[in-house]
Amino acid sequence: MGFALPNAYVALSDLAAARGVAPEKYTEGLGTLAMAVPGPDDDTVTLATRAAADALARGGISPDEIGFVVVGTETAVDHSKPVASFVQGHLGIPTGARVFETKHACYGGTAGLFSALDWIDAGRARGKKALVICSDIARYGLGTPGEPTQGGGAVAMIVSESPRLVRLDGASTGRYSKDVFDFWRPLDSKDAKVDGRYSVECYLDAVRGAYSALRGLEGASERPASARFAAMLYHVPYGKMARKAHAALVESDGETDSTATFSRLVAPGLRLPSVVGNVYTASLYLSLLGLLSSDGERLAGQAISLFSYGSGSCSELFTGEVVPGAHESLRDVFELVARREKLDVAGYEARFRARDIRELAKTPLESMPSTTPHFHGIRDDKRVYA
Ligand code: CAA
Repeated sequence: MGFALPNAYVALSDLAAARGVAPEKYTEGLGTLAMAVPGPDDDTVTLATRAAADALARGGISPDEIGFVVVGTETAVDHSKPVASFVQGHLGIPTGARVFETKHACYGGTAGLFSALDWIDAGRARGKKALVICSDIARYGLGTPGEPTQGGGAVAMIVSESPRLVRLDGASTGRYSKDVFDFWRPLDSKDAKVDGRYSVECYLDAVRGAYSALRGLEGASERPASARFAAMLYHVPYGKMARKAHAALVESDGETDSTATFSRLVAPGLRLPSVVGNVYTASLYLSLLGLLSSDGERLAGQAISLFSYGSGSCSELFTGEVVPGAHESLRDVFELVARREKLDVAGYEARFRARDIRELAKTPLESMPSTTPHFHGIRDDKRVYA
């Protein structure tokens, strides 16, 4: 696994003060301390590319070994050309690869991950590996109720027959999907639209439905989830949502008090999301990355569960086993995250607006100093990267 985050963040206590809200509403009520703030030269492509390059470097894997590239995103940069093609170009992935994009809100990356698992299971990988990238910029707009649940970044995963981090069970999964209008991003709007409280209800229905489907598949004899898993990960739009989801899931096992199992099984995976915010498709996998970095050694050989939810909706509850040594390549994750620049609220708002101007500019702009590659602007209706 590898990851990429914008190089700056805003503290939610500062945002609360600027919006006239009690800071505890964001830090405790939502469970988020800080959110990543993308700059004008960040977009889904640059974040995906940097995350993928990071995953290849951490794994010591050459682009030539990749035969399948999928990017799950709900922040597409084009109706037709997939983010995955830009990534292929930037990283020099061979022309024999299958390259595409998947969309189903925050579930899009999981759809890509299962396509990769099926490709390998079907025996079609023929020694090649799959590169699965989740890349998004969560955006509701300044001053909206969703504003404290924004963020941005990407997580990349290399999937192969010999996993070094987590051995996923692609067959034993519980699914729940339903046509609902809880959260959406109309084609003419950069900002997401959301029926906030309803979206929480839809998420909770999905976690119950997916768990019921998993138990139906495995038979009634299985132990309760809190006894079976050493860690339980959820899609994290904000930490409190994962807390509610966990309570709903263990309630299905007849457990009325989820406090202790939340602290033991869920909280360790929320550390990284709590300082990044929502990253839509990448949130669940950011939680996994943070967990492996901080607790991978302790979890070696143990079973974990992962719940992916995408509004609209589709969700999946699946399981895996942590491979011994999984923490080795991810030791520096929290150290890297701590190096980001802290913005004040004026700085956050300026970046927010600057991104819009860069998106609308029809000629590439003078570039700002930043990471490579960066989004330079638009020329002849084509996105230009430097
Ligand atoms: N101290 C401590 N806690 C406080 C507080 C204070 N001073 N003031 C309020 N709170 C608590 C509230 O009690 C509430 O907690 P509970 O839910 O446990 O009751 C929490 O803070 C939030 O308060 P509100 O519900 O009043 O907040 P809100 O209505 O302003 O907005 C929201 C919350 C609906 C989540 C909004 O941020 C939003 O619309 N976010 C985007 C949608 C979203 O993330 N939905 C999640 C499910 S959908 C999904 O997961 C897909 C996805 O990624 C989008």
